[in-house]
Amino acid sequence: MTSQPAHAQSAVQPIIWTGASLRLLDQRVLPAQERYLDCKTAAEVAEAIHSMAVRGAPAIGIAAAYGLVLDARTDAQAFDHADALLAASRPTAINLRWALARMRGVWTHARDVASLEKEARRIHQEDLRQNLQMAELGAALLPQGARVLTHCNTGALATGGHGTALGVIRTAHAQGKLAAVYNTETRPWLQGARLTAWELQREGIAAKLIADSAAAHLMNREKIDWVIVGADRIAANGDTANKIGTYMLAVAAQRHGTRFMVVAPTGTFDPNCASGEQIPIEEREPEELTRFRGEAIAPPGFDAFNPVFDVTPAELIDAIVCERGLIEEPTAAKIRALLS
Ligand code: MRU
Repeated sequence: MTSQPAHAQSAVQPIIWTGASLRLLDQRVLPAQERYLDCKTAAEVAEAIHSMAVRGAPAIGIAAAYGLVLDARTDAQAFDHADALLAASRPTAINLRWALARMRGVWTHARDVASLEKEARRIHQEDLRQNLQMAELGAALLPQGARVLTHCNTGALATGGHGTALGVIRTAHAQGKLAAVYNTETRPWLQGARLTAWELQREGIAAKLIADSAAAHLMNREKIDWVIVGADRIAANGDTANKIGTYMLAVAAQRHGTRFMVVAPTGTFDPNCASGEQIPIEEREPEELTRFRGEAIAPPGFDAFNPVFDVTPAELIDAIVCERGLIEEPTAAKIRALLS
């Protein structure tokens, strides 16, 4: 294991490979409970991804890779079925398909479970390393005394450790660069209020929670230097799918002179999507909006539209930070050059 800076040693271990099973910190019940699910089959991992016990683009890729190992070692014929099951568990984050494709490459070549397991571990460890690289690059963009706003949860819970956008915030905090951190609650699933706030508190990073709808008001009243977010899929032209509400933040940021940073590893780029229009946007159950903790909050029978991601056009993004480097004012040519 490579040595890491002290601030990178996260106490949060959301994905634990025991060798016999995949233990997942159940993110549906945080912060009230710290409970682990023990997945022993690919079907159980697919269900954990679909039900969001594990979530965040890199984290679901890592979990899916281990899920393949679980089934392939009990039945070598099970690979294709497990692969299809895991690929169908959530549609937007390309990291899931990217990790499965890597695992398929190894399986096709070696047909051996030990190599498959090694590849899953590698995907997991690589993600942490990439997060640390991106965190340095992203933090270097921030001015001393930076005031930042982040959305959703992009921390250790959503990745192999440290985090993407939240990784930049952790590293900038360790460098003493931050004057203010705000995080949105992230309706309707509350990744910000439940998960990001939990991680920030554990890290001892002072921050303030805001309602999603308070972001433009905040930018209007106070100088916010950067909005920093993660990504679920970045199209060839830089259009970026991320948690619903990201696009609204980018529009508000442009209006208020706030810069906008996307932090994502190469596994999040999808050269097969020419633009954001081709990115599939997951829609989840209307009940995520009409009910809260089992209680109805809308009149019975009232319908709801619940897209859980949106696309921010590349022209609203000031910088994409990836482990391979920084792309300012992203274009298709700059992205191609970085990835090639
Ligand atoms: O629905 P979720 O919680 O899986 O959505 C997560 C996000 O949108 C994150 O911003 C994204 O996956 C990047 S996580 C490093």
